[in-house]
Amino acid sequence: MKKIGFLNGPNLDRLGKREPKIYGTTTLGEIEQFVSEEAKNLGHSSSAFQSNHEGALIDKIHEWADQGFFGLILNPGGFTHTSVALRDAVVASGLKTVEVHLSNVHAREDFRHKSLISGIASAVIAGMGYTGYIAALRFLSEES
Ligand code: DQA
Repeated sequence: MKKIGFLNGPNLDRLGKREPKIYGTTTLGEIEQFVSEEAKNLGHSSSAFQSNHEGALIDKIHEWADQGFFGLILNPGGFTHTSVALRDAVVASGLKTVEVHLSNVHAREDFRHKSLISGIASAVIAGMGYTGYIAALRFLSEES
């Protein structure tokens, strides 16, 4: 059994209401439920956390690392494109990390094409909507 953290950054608490043409109509609560159920089906356990604050996200990564988590499914939201500190926390944690974006960031504005996380992630998923999180879970389930 692996412990997997599901971490969402700023504005992702607004899913369902926020730009539904881009991000869909499924709420974060519903997605967290799907991820939790799929983790159980695969024989693993998952914990979910969302924050609009960079430091809170970093603290949670440290906490999960100290608790012996195996993997991290991370949608850093806008911090993807700006946060050296979040990247450093992911590296320091040693967690196997999948970076997930609901939208295809590469088909959007130029500033979304650069990610500070992708270079240190084990895998990157973009543009699959919330099913990207399920794909990330299945990937982590197969990894050792
Ligand atoms: C996002 C893409 C980011 O560029 C944006 O700032 C988000 C959401 C996505 O899931 O597509 O907040 O990470």
